[in-house]
Amino acid sequence: MTGNLPSEFDGLKGNHCLPHPMEGPFPPLFLAPMAGVTDLAYRILARECGADVTVTEFTAASGLTRRNAYSWLKVESDPRESPFIPQIFGGITEEMVQTVEMLQDRADVIDINFGCPAPKVCKNDAGAALLRDPDRVVNMVRACIEVAEVPITVKMRLGTGSGDNTALEICQRLEEEGVERVCVHGRTLRQRYSGEADWEQIREISAAVSIPVIANGDVTDSSSASKCLDATRASGLMIGRGAIGRPTIFYEIKRDLGWITGPAPWGDGGDAIARHWCWNRYLELCDDIYSETRNKNLKRHAVSFTKGLPGASSMRVDLHREGDQKKLGRMVSEYLEALALSNEATVG
Ligand SMILES: Cc1cc2nc3c(=O)[nH]c(=O)nc-3n(C[C@H](O)[C@H](O)[C@H](O)COP(=O)(O)O)c2cc1C
Repeated sequence: MTGNLPSEFDGLKGNHCLPHPMEGPFPPLFLAPMAGVTDLAYRILARECGADVTVTEFTAASGLTRRNAYSWLKVESDPRESPFIPQIFGGITEEMVQTVEMLQDRADVIDINFGCPAPKVCKNDAGAALLRDPDRVVNMVRACIEVAEVPITVKMRLGTGSGDNTALEICQRLEEEGVERVCVHGRTLRQRYSGEADWEQIREISAAVSIPVIANGDVTDSSSASKCLDATRASGLMIGRGAIGRPTIFYEIKRDLGWITGPAPWGDGGDAIARHWCWNRYLELCDDIYSETRNKNLKRHAVSFTKGLPGASSMRVDLHREGDQKKLGRMVSEYLEALALSNEATVG
C-alpha cells in the first residue's frame, strides 16, 4: 500500500508545491502525528470524521535506512489517505537524506520532526534536542530539500527551554531554504506537556514568515480552536491529545464553527452513538488493513474510546485481560452500543 497521488495532482511531484488542503475556504485541521495512536486505520477514520490532513507517527531514519520491517510498517499508507505524509526524525543528516530518497516515491510530502521530547530520541541529538542548534537544523533540512522531489515540511517546538527560543529564527531560515510549511507546538522541550501552549509565540512566527504556519497545542474543542486561530493567525490547526479516542472532534469543530453543514457520518445521534459508530468503523478499517497482523494499538484505543464513560472502568478490567483482538473489539462495541441505546432511551 502506498500513498499514490490522485490524478488531479498529476505533475505535482517535483513542482514543490503543497497539495490541496491549504487552499480550501477554511483553515485545514490536521490530526497530529502521535506514536502508538495514529496508525493507518486511525488516520483514515480521522479523515472520515473531518480531519483534512494526517501525518504518520514519527519514524526513525536509522530504522528506515537499515530496512527495519517494523519501521517500514509505520510508513504504510493507502489511497484513502491523500496526501500521504510520513514523518521522519534522526540526528544524522546522511541518514535523513537517504530516508527522503527512499520514501519519496510513495510520499506526497515528507515531514521532519524537531519536536519530540523523548529522552531516548533527544540523547541521540534528534527531535527537539536539535532546536538548540539552528545551524544543524537548517543544514539537515537543506540537505533533505536538495534531494527531495516532494515538498518538505517541518514540525517543531518553540525551543529547548534553556536559552532563548529558536523556533522563530529557524522558521525564517527554513522558509529561505524552501520548506513549504511549518507546524509549531507552542511548548519547549523542557516543558514536555506541562503548562499551557504559548499561542502568542506561534503568532510571532506566523507574522514573520510567508509560508503556512500550523498552530499546535491545547486545541480540544471548537472554542479553543477558534481562540487559537484568533491568537496565532495560523493557516491551520493541528490537534493531538484532543483527538485521542475522539476522532469526532474534527467534525464537531467544523460544525460548531459553521464550516460544514452536512450530516455527520454517524447521523444526528449524541456522543455515545458517535463513539459507537467510530469504534465499529475503526474495527472495520483494522480488519481491512491489518487482516494478517495484530494491531498493537487496539487496546490503547479501546481504553481511550471508553474513557470517562459510565461503567467503563469495570469493563476495562476485563478488557485488559483479553488477549484475543476480535473479542476485545466486540467487547467495546457491545459496551458502546448498550450505552448508546440507554442514552437514546433517556433522551427519548
Ligand atoms: C501519545 C503521543 C505521541 C506523540 N507522538 C508524536 C510523534 O510521533 N511525532 C510528533 O511530531 N509529535 C508527537 N506527539 C506530539 C503531538 O503531535 C502534539 O505536538 C502534542 O501532543 C501537542 O498537541 P496537543 O496539545 O493537541 O496534544 C505525540 C504526542 C502524544 C500525546
